[in-house]
Amino acid sequence: MIIAIDGPAASGKGTIAKQIASVYGLHHLDTGLLYRAVAKAVLDAGHSPDDVAHAAAAAVALNPKHFDENALKAKAITEASSVVAAIPQVREALISYQRAFATKPPGAVLDGRDIGTVIAPGADVKLFVVATPEVRAERRALELRRRGEDADEQEVLAELLRRDERDARRTAAPLVQAPDAHLLDTTHLGIDAAFRAAVAIIETVRTGRKRG
Ligand code: CDP
Repeated sequence: MIIAIDGPAASGKGTIAKQIASVYGLHHLDTGLLYRAVAKAVLDAGHSPDDVAHAAAAAVALNPKHFDENALKAKAITEASSVVAAIPQVREALISYQRAFATKPPGAVLDGRDIGTVIAPGADVKLFVVATPEVRAERRALELRRRGEDADEQEVLAELLRRDERDARRTAAPLVQAPDAHLLDTTHLGIDAAFRAAVAIIETVRTGRKRG
Protein backbone atom coordinates (compact mmCIF):
# COMPACT_ATOMS: atom_id res chain seq x y z
CA MET A 1 0.00 0.00 0.00
CA ILE A 2 1.28 3.45 -0.90
CA ILE A 3 -0.22 6.54 0.74
CA ALA A 4 0.68 9.93 -0.76
CA ILE A 5 0.27 13.00 1.45
CA ASP A 6 0.88 16.40 -0.14
CA GLY A 7 0.14 19.96 0.81
CA PRO A 8 1.56 23.42 1.44
CA ALA A 9 4.12 24.31 4.11
CA ALA A 10 3.29 23.42 7.71
CA SER A 11 -0.20 22.15 6.87
CA GLY A 12 0.16 19.21 9.26
CA LYS A 13 0.97 16.61 6.61
CA GLY A 14 4.15 15.42 8.35
CA THR A 15 2.42 14.72 11.66
CA ILE A 16 -0.44 12.92 9.91
CA ALA A 17 1.97 10.91 7.74
CA LYS A 18 3.98 9.73 10.78
CA GLN A 19 0.87 8.62 12.67
CA ILE A 20 -0.68 6.89 9.65
CA ALA A 21 2.56 5.00 8.96
CA SER A 22 2.77 3.85 12.56
CA VAL A 23 -0.87 2.69 12.76
CA TYR A 24 -0.82 0.85 9.41
CA GLY A 25 2.70 -0.55 9.93
CA LEU A 26 4.14 1.21 6.86
CA HIS A 27 7.48 2.93 6.20
CA HIS A 28 7.46 6.72 6.31
CA LEU A 29 9.47 9.21 4.28
CA ASP A 30 9.33 12.97 4.86
CA THR A 31 10.49 13.96 1.38
CA GLY A 32 10.98 17.59 2.45
CA LEU A 33 14.09 16.39 4.29
CA LEU A 34 15.68 15.48 0.95
CA TYR A 35 15.36 19.03 -0.37
CA ARG A 36 16.40 20.44 2.99
CA ALA A 37 19.52 18.24 2.96
CA VAL A 38 20.44 19.42 -0.54
CA ALA A 39 19.99 23.04 0.59
CA LYS A 40 22.14 22.49 3.69
CA ALA A 41 24.92 20.85 1.67
CA VAL A 42 24.94 23.75 -0.80
CA LEU A 43 24.91 26.40 1.95
CA ASP A 44 27.57 24.58 4.03
CA ALA A 45 29.84 24.54 0.97
CA GLY A 46 29.42 28.30 0.65
CA HIS A 47 27.34 28.29 -2.52
CA SER A 48 24.05 29.96 -3.33
CA PRO A 49 20.92 27.72 -3.32
CA ASP A 50 20.12 28.78 -6.90
CA ASP A 51 23.52 27.56 -8.13
CA VAL A 52 22.22 24.83 -10.46
CA ALA A 53 25.47 22.87 -10.88
CA HIS A 54 26.30 22.71 -7.17
CA ALA A 55 22.72 21.97 -6.12
CA ALA A 56 22.42 19.16 -8.68
CA ALA A 57 25.76 17.67 -7.57
CA ALA A 58 24.63 17.81 -3.93
CA ALA A 59 21.39 16.01 -4.84
CA VAL A 60 23.30 13.25 -6.65
CA ALA A 61 25.67 12.82 -3.67
CA LEU A 62 22.90 12.77 -1.05
CA ASN A 63 22.90 9.99 1.56
CA PRO A 64 19.45 9.95 3.17
CA LYS A 65 20.59 7.44 5.81
CA HIS A 66 22.66 10.08 7.56
CA PHE A 67 20.11 12.82 8.05
CA ASP A 68 20.13 14.97 11.17
CA GLU A 69 16.43 15.83 11.15
CA ASN A 70 16.71 18.52 13.80
CA ALA A 71 19.42 20.42 11.92
CA LEU A 72 17.50 20.11 8.63
CA LYS A 73 14.32 21.59 10.11
CA ALA A 74 16.12 24.76 11.22
CA LYS A 75 14.79 28.09 9.95
CA ALA A 76 18.12 28.86 8.24
CA ILE A 77 17.63 25.93 5.83
CA THR A 78 13.91 26.26 5.13
CA GLU A 79 13.74 29.00 2.51
CA ALA A 80 16.80 27.67 0.65
CA SER A 81 15.14 24.24 0.45
CA SER A 82 12.37 25.61 -1.76
CA VAL A 83 14.95 27.34 -3.98
CA VAL A 84 16.88 24.11 -4.66
CA ALA A 85 13.54 22.25 -5.02
CA ALA A 86 12.66 24.40 -8.04
CA ILE A 87 15.72 23.13 -9.95
CA PRO A 88 14.64 20.29 -12.29
CA GLN A 89 18.05 18.52 -12.10
CA VAL A 90 17.75 18.40 -8.30
CA ARG A 91 14.27 16.84 -8.47
CA GLU A 92 15.37 14.38 -11.15
CA ALA A 93 18.29 13.17 -8.99
CA LEU A 94 15.93 12.43 -6.08
CA ILE A 95 13.21 10.54 -7.97
CA SER A 96 14.64 7.02 -7.98
CA TYR A 97 15.33 7.02 -4.23
CA GLN A 98 11.76 8.13 -3.49
CA ARG A 99 10.17 5.62 -5.90
CA ALA A 100 12.25 2.76 -4.48
CA PHE A 101 11.23 3.81 -0.96
CA ALA A 102 7.55 3.94 -1.95
CA THR A 103 7.57 0.34 -3.18
CA LYS A 104 9.36 -1.17 -0.15
CA PRO A 105 7.16 -3.94 1.30
CA PRO A 106 4.73 -3.80 3.02
CA GLY A 107 4.20 -0.24 1.75
CA ALA A 108 4.94 3.35 2.60
CA VAL A 109 3.56 6.74 3.46
CA LEU A 110 5.38 9.61 1.73
CA ASP A 111 4.68 13.25 2.42
CA GLY A 112 5.73 16.21 0.31
CA ARG A 113 4.51 18.35 -2.58
CA ASP A 114 4.56 16.05 -5.63
CA ILE A 115 4.00 12.55 -4.23
CA GLY A 116 0.52 12.04 -5.68
CA THR A 117 1.36 13.80 -8.94
CA VAL A 118 4.93 12.74 -9.84
CA ILE A 119 6.56 10.30 -7.41
CA ALA A 120 3.66 7.86 -6.92
CA PRO A 121 0.82 8.78 -9.28
CA GLY A 122 -0.61 5.28 -8.78
CA ALA A 123 -0.72 5.57 -4.96
CA ASP A 124 -3.60 3.70 -3.30
CA VAL A 125 -4.72 6.74 -1.34
CA LYS A 126 -3.85 10.41 -1.90
CA LEU A 127 -4.45 13.15 0.64
CA PHE A 128 -3.98 16.87 0.05
CA VAL A 129 -3.68 18.53 3.45
CA VAL A 130 -4.40 22.26 3.78
CA ALA A 131 -5.00 24.87 6.50
CA THR A 132 -5.25 28.66 6.47
CA PRO A 133 -1.88 30.49 6.34
CA GLU A 134 -2.51 32.04 9.77
CA VAL A 135 -3.08 28.67 11.44
CA ARG A 136 -0.07 27.19 9.69
CA ALA A 137 2.14 30.09 10.82
CA GLU A 138 0.92 29.68 14.40
CA ARG A 139 1.71 25.94 14.37
CA ARG A 140 5.13 26.39 12.76
CA ALA A 141 6.12 29.17 15.19
CA LEU A 142 5.19 26.89 18.10
CA GLU A 143 7.19 24.03 16.59
CA LEU A 144 10.27 26.25 16.12
CA ARG A 145 10.05 27.56 19.68
CA ARG A 146 9.79 24.02 21.02
CA ARG A 147 13.05 23.29 19.23
CA GLY A 148 14.69 26.29 20.86
CA GLU A 149 14.58 28.70 17.89
CA ASP A 150 13.17 32.23 18.00
CA ALA A 151 10.01 32.55 15.95
CA ASP A 152 8.09 35.69 15.14
CA GLU A 153 4.66 34.63 13.86
CA GLN A 154 4.46 37.41 11.25
CA GLU A 155 7.89 36.50 9.88
CA VAL A 156 6.99 32.83 9.81
CA LEU A 157 3.75 33.69 7.98
CA ALA A 158 5.63 35.73 5.36
CA GLU A 159 8.14 32.91 4.87
CA LEU A 160 5.38 30.30 4.45
CA LEU A 161 3.59 32.42 1.85
CA ARG A 162 6.82 33.07 -0.10
CA ARG A 163 7.60 29.37 -0.10
CA ASP A 164 4.05 28.31 -1.09
CA GLU A 165 4.17 30.73 -3.99
CA ARG A 166 7.60 29.50 -5.14
CA ASP A 167 6.50 25.85 -4.78
CA ALA A 168 3.24 26.40 -6.67
CA ARG A 169 4.70 28.52 -9.46
CA ARG A 170 7.72 26.44 -10.42
CA THR A 171 7.48 24.47 -13.64
CA ALA A 172 9.11 21.29 -12.28
CA ALA A 173 6.58 19.29 -10.23
CA PRO A 174 4.68 22.28 -8.81
CA LEU A 175 2.62 22.07 -5.63
CA VAL A 176 -0.84 21.15 -6.88
CA GLN A 177 -3.63 18.87 -5.70
CA ALA A 178 -3.80 15.69 -7.81
CA PRO A 179 -7.27 15.31 -9.38
CA ASP A 180 -7.84 12.07 -7.43
CA ALA A 181 -6.50 13.38 -4.10
CA HIS A 182 -8.85 13.83 -1.13
CA LEU A 183 -8.78 17.30 0.40
CA LEU A 184 -8.27 17.41 4.16
CA ASP A 185 -8.60 20.86 5.73
CA THR A 186 -7.01 20.83 9.19
CA THR A 187 -7.68 24.51 10.00
CA HIS A 188 -10.15 23.62 12.75
CA LEU A 189 -8.73 20.22 13.64
CA GLY A 190 -6.28 19.36 16.40
CA ILE A 191 -3.68 16.62 15.92
CA ASP A 192 -6.01 13.78 16.98
CA ALA A 193 -8.98 15.00 14.97
CA ALA A 194 -6.80 15.48 11.85
CA PHE A 195 -5.44 11.97 12.26
CA ARG A 196 -8.96 10.51 12.64
CA ALA A 197 -10.14 12.41 9.55
CA ALA A 198 -7.20 11.00 7.56
CA VAL A 199 -7.96 7.45 8.72
CA ALA A 200 -11.64 7.92 7.77
CA ILE A 201 -10.64 8.91 4.22
CA ILE A 202 -8.18 6.02 3.91
CA GLU A 203 -10.74 3.50 5.16
CA THR A 204 -13.45 4.82 2.83
CA VAL A 205 -11.10 4.46 -0.14
CA ARG A 206 -10.00 0.99 0.94
CA THR A 207 -13.49 -0.40 1.58
CA GLY A 208 -14.76 1.19 -1.63
CA ARG A 209 -12.01 -0.60 -3.50
CA LYS A 210 -12.78 -3.97 -1.89
CA ARG A 211 -16.47 -3.68 -2.84
CA GLY A 212 -15.65 -2.57 -6.36
O1 CDP B 1 7.70 21.12 6.74
P1 CDP B 1 7.33 22.07 5.63
O2 CDP B 1 5.97 21.79 5.09
O3 CDP B 1 7.54 23.50 5.98
O4 CDP B 1 8.38 21.85 4.46
P2 CDP B 1 9.03 20.49 3.91
O5 CDP B 1 7.96 19.49 3.64
O6 CDP B 1 10.14 20.07 4.81
O7 CDP B 1 9.62 20.96 2.50
C1 CDP B 1 10.61 21.97 2.39
C2 CDP B 1 10.64 22.42 0.94
O8 CDP B 1 11.05 21.33 0.11
C3 CDP B 1 9.29 22.85 0.35
O9 CDP B 1 9.01 24.22 0.55
C4 CDP B 1 9.42 22.50 -1.11
O10 CDP B 1 10.03 23.54 -1.84
C5 CDP B 1 10.37 21.33 -1.12
N1 CDP B 1 9.70 20.05 -1.35
C6 CDP B 1 9.39 19.71 -2.65
O11 CDP B 1 9.59 20.49 -3.56
N2 CDP B 1 8.86 18.50 -2.94
C7 CDP B 1 8.61 17.61 -1.97
N3 CDP B 1 8.10 16.42 -2.29
C8 CDP B 1 8.89 17.95 -0.62
C9 CDP B 1 9.43 19.19 -0.34
